Amino acid sequence: MNIKRYLATLGVKGLRLFSPEIAHLIGMRFLKSKTLGSMFFPDLKDISSEVLPDILPMLKVTVPGLGELPQPIGLAAGFDKNCDCPEAFPRLGFSFLEVGTITPKPQSGNPKPRIFRIPTERAIINRMGFNNDGAAQIAKRLQAKIPLLQGIPIGVNVGKNKVTPAEKSIEDYMVVIEAFKHLATFFVVNISSPNTPGLRDLATPFFIRELRAASSNIKTPIWIKLDPDMSKPKLQSMIQAILEAKFQGAVLTNTHRVEWPEGGGLSGHPLSVLSTTCLEWAWEVHKGRLPIIATGGILSGIDVFQKMARGALAVELYTALIYHGPWVIYNLLLELVAELNLRSIRNLSDVVGCHYL
Ligand SMILES: Cc1cc2nc3c(=O)[nH]c(=O)nc-3n(C[C@H](O)[C@H](O)[C@H](O)COP(=O)(O)O)c2cc1C
Repeated sequence: MNIKRYLATLGVKGLRLFSPEIAHLIGMRFLKSKTLGSMFFPDLKDISSEVLPDILPMLKVTVPGLGELPQPIGLAAGFDKNCDCPEAFPRLGFSFLEVGTITPKPQSGNPKPRIFRIPTERAIINRMGFNNDGAAQIAKRLQAKIPLLQGIPIGVNVGKNKVTPAEKSIEDYMVVIEAFKHLATFFVVNISSPNTPGLRDLATPFFIRELRAASSNIKTPIWIKLDPDMSKPKLQSMIQAILEAKFQGAVLTNTHRVEWPEGGGLSGHPLSVLSTTCLEWAWEVHKGRLPIIATGGILSGIDVFQKMARGALAVELYTALIYHGPWVIYNLLLELVAELNLRSIRNLSDVVGCHYL
C-alpha cells in the first residue's frame, strides 16, 4: 500500500507537467483502466479491511434520498461530466457521486484553455461551459454502468444548453430529468454555474416554483445547487422557496465567479469561507429542516467536520482530488476521525448542526 501511495504522489506531481485539461484526460484514462489504476489507487476494500475497520462505523451518515452512506464524502459535479467511469470512484472511497452537468443536446463548451491551476492557493479557475455528450448518449452510458456501481448513489447534475433562451430553460431541465428518471438516484439542478450566460439569473423563488410544477410527477429526489455569490437576503429567499416547494435539499455551493487572474469559477481553498458562510445563512432559515450537501474548499478532514457542524449532512469535493490525488478520501477520513476523537464525539452524525447549539 505504501508503494501505491508513493507512486500516486509521483503521478499527481507528474500530471502537473501537462495542461490541466490534458492532465484530466490522462487521469481519467487511469481511472478507467483497472490494471493501470491498481498500480496507483487505493481500493476501499483493502483500506477498510486493513486500516479502517474500527473507525468506519462511527462515520456512517444518512442522507434523505441517498440513503445510509458508509461515510459522508462524495464526488462533486464536473469531474466525470460524461459518465465515463463512475465505477472508478467507489474504489477511491467516494460514497456517492454526481455526473454531469448534462444538457439536453451535446455541446462543446468554451474555447480552450478553460481550466487554470493556482497551486499556491490550492485553487482552480474553470470556465468549461457545460461541455458534455448530451442527455441521450450519456443516459445510454449510465444504463450500461449501473451494474458496476456497487449500489452507490449516483446523482445526475442537470443543466441547460447555452443556446436555449431563458424562458425555455425549464423545458431543458425537464428533458434531462426525463432521460435519467429511471437511472439516477437523485438529481441536482444546476442554476449556479458562472460559465453559462444568464444561468445564475434563473436563481429566483419564481423559477423554483415553476420547476416544482413541471417536475411534480418525478419521483426521483431533486436537489438545487446554488452559487456562493448571492446576498444574504437572496440566498435565504431561495432556501425558503426550496423548502416550500418541497425539493429534497440544497447543494451549497458552486464556484465563486471571478474575473482575475482568469475569468470563470474559482474552486478550492479560497472558496471555503464564502461557501461555509452560505451554510450559516441557510441554517438561519431551515434550522435543520432542509437536507444540505456542502461543497466548496474541502481539502482536509477538519473542513469536512466544519461543513457538517454548520448543517451539512454530507459533502462533495473536486479540487482536493486534483491537488491531493487518489488517496484523498483515505487521508480525509483519517483526519476526520482524529478530529472526532479529539472532541470525544462517537458518531459523525451527531456533528450535524452542532455549531449552532
Ligand atoms: C473544472 C471544474 C468543472 C466543474 N464543472 C461543474 C459542472 O459541470 N457542474 C457543477 O454543478 N459544478 C461544477 N464544478 C463545481 C464543483 O462541482 C464544485 O461545486 C466546486 O468545484 C467546489 O468544490 P471544490 O472546492 O471541492 O472544488 C466544476 C468545478 C471544476 C473545478
